[in-house]
Amino acid sequence: MNRRKILALFLLSTLFIVFNMTVIRAQDPAPIKIGVAVAQSGTASAFGVEQVIGAEIAEAYFNEKGGVNGVPIELVFQDAATDENGAINAFNILMNQENVVGILGPTLSQQAFAAVPEADRVGVPVIAPSNTAAGIPQISAFNARVSAPVTVLAPIALRTAVELEGVSRAVVIFARNDAFSSSETVLFQSAATEIGLNVASVLEYETTDTSFDILASDALGNSPDVIIISGLAVDGGTLVRTLRELGYEGLIVGGNGFNTPNIFPICQEYCDGIIVAQAYNNQAESEINAEFRALYEEGQGKLPGQFPAQAFAGIQVFVESLIEIDNTVGLDSFGDDLTALRAALNTTLLSLEYDTPIGIISFDPDGEIIQSNFYVAQVVMNDDNETGTFALLVSVNLEPEAEATEEPVSTPES
Ligand code: ALA
Repeated sequence: MNRRKILALFLLSTLFIVFNMTVIRAQDPAPIKIGVAVAQSGTASAFGVEQVIGAEIAEAYFNEKGGVNGVPIELVFQDAATDENGAINAFNILMNQENVVGILGPTLSQQAFAAVPEADRVGVPVIAPSNTAAGIPQISAFNARVSAPVTVLAPIALRTAVELEGVSRAVVIFARNDAFSSSETVLFQSAATEIGLNVASVLEYETTDTSFDILASDALGNSPDVIIISGLAVDGGTLVRTLRELGYEGLIVGGNGFNTPNIFPICQEYCDGIIVAQAYNNQAESEINAEFRALYEEGQGKLPGQFPAQAFAGIQVFVESLIEIDNTVGLDSFGDDLTALRAALNTTLLSLEYDTPIGIISFDPDGEIIQSNFYVAQVVMNDDNETGTFALLVSVNLEPEAEATEEPVSTPES
């Protein structure tokens, strides 16, 4: 072959490649938009920033695997802030302006009771990533949650505290203006009575309170050996700090609001020893959890907690349901009918089983999560008093067909 022919062939093949790339680009499908409306500002951002990280990891992870049969997903974030209006606004923008197929959010149960009815009116599936109050899935036929309810978590934490520390006299404190805290305390109080704790007093505060001296003094006046707190991260962490500063040396059991490493900078060295029940353990053995853990650790330089893991699981539920729809009826068959696609997504997501970082999960017809593995952890603070770990104390398996089992764990892990 002479040089001219070689050059001509080279030019032809280059043209062919460029042409093909252009055709592929021209046919690149528009990404499927999924909304994320969590607290990126206000005090609930102590949870929300972790949820954003979990969702972003999921977006990259599933797109790397091909998205929805070759169509990428695109997460559209809208700050739901920390109040009801913030969540309602975020939902409306995502549903009506961004035309998302579904929404992951909001962060607080208090916000969900206000914002989910909006999604119900439009017919947009919502996955709650962290709402643990009673009644969340029942708000709407379009609402499911990947966050196990307080009904499961609160009694587990309390029973462990009693078994491990032999406590007997309790003071219960909760945030009365927060739907989740008011819901969780009811469970804590009935579990306390059931296991024979003497509940000396039940005290209330508001999440907007900033000074806890009087409340803490009242609590200590009852001489408790365990204080059970249902609140959110910032107020709850500050209350713990105040109790310890006033000299309290007994056990503290925190609810789901304490389930984030973002409490560590708030109660600092005083966080040490808090007992919390968790719906996620980053050492749980599964392929997807190992991948999630590695991606989180690579980006954040620490191990993931429950909030990012549940957010990842929520996005996974949307992605795998969209794949199922594409494999069965075909996403194309919906054309521009977003309402029909949203309805199909809602029905489909309730029908599948998912192997997620928080374990194998599915939903009951109401959208309540079905999950069997839970954990109880105790906070161990590092010497810097700013960072720490949730050291695993007990692993609980609540599989319906198996007897409920509780395995004490010998080596604490964060
Ligand atoms: N678990 C908390 C709630 O439901 C964040 O509001």
